[in-house]
Amino acid sequence: MVIYKAKDYKDMSRKAANIISAQVIMKPNCVLGLATGSSPIGAYKQLIEWYEKGDLDFAEVKTINLDEYKGLSKESEQSYYYFMYHNLFEHININLNNTHIQNGMAKDEELECDRYNRIIHSLGGIDLQLLGLGHNGHIGFNEPDQAFEKDTHLVELAESTISANSRLFDNPDDVPRYAYTMGIKTIMQAKKILVIVSGEDKADIVKSAFFGPVTPKVPASILQMHNDVILVGDEAALSKVIN
Ligand code: F6R
Repeated sequence: MVIYKAKDYKDMSRKAANIISAQVIMKPNCVLGLATGSSPIGAYKQLIEWYEKGDLDFAEVKTINLDEYKGLSKESEQSYYYFMYHNLFEHININLNNTHIQNGMAKDEELECDRYNRIIHSLGGIDLQLLGLGHNGHIGFNEPDQAFEKDTHLVELAESTISANSRLFDNPDDVPRYAYTMGIKTIMQAKKILVIVSGEDKADIVKSAFFGPVTPKVPASILQMHNDVILVGDEAALSKVIN
């Protein structure tokens, strides 16, 4: 694992965007695995800026997102589709047909998971997977104690995840209890993994995920077994692992 220490959120975002840009430049038709949440917003902004300057071209890029809430439609402001569209896709020249997110409104959960797994397979796997890190060590919505070997599946969200995400909903009771997520197996099959972390509140989980035992109790700890992981964290998030 390579660790890059950034000064703050802005610097972390710029470093992460540099790594994503390098991937897009080296392989213009690459498959990017994308994440939502607070962590990647700055990196997406930076990518948009470089696109607007004419330094990046997303015309052939394909994307596949980690997760989506069950029960939310694309139009719902809290859906991850809405997040991706407004924080990235609508600002760059990506072909929306080449962007993929689970369908939160799918009637048949099993069919939806199969459909998603087939898409990942047909894309030939993921070149670069971007990940944020949950306070309980979740990656995607793979919560503690789930099997490591899964591909796309439906999960019941942990209470801590529901309360962390309730900040984005008007009413905490509106936070969906279930979500689709890419599984750990699929994430581990990505050729390269980029994890971004910011803030003092992530310092403990960074330490246990990357320097503690590999255990399903801390899903992100499995990343220690991947041979090409880059961790970009700001000083606060890395404060318990490097000086
Ligand atoms: C989002 C996702 C989640 C987040 C994690 C960290 O698509 O899969 O695992 O990456 O919850 O969220 P933030 O970045 O908001 O701290």
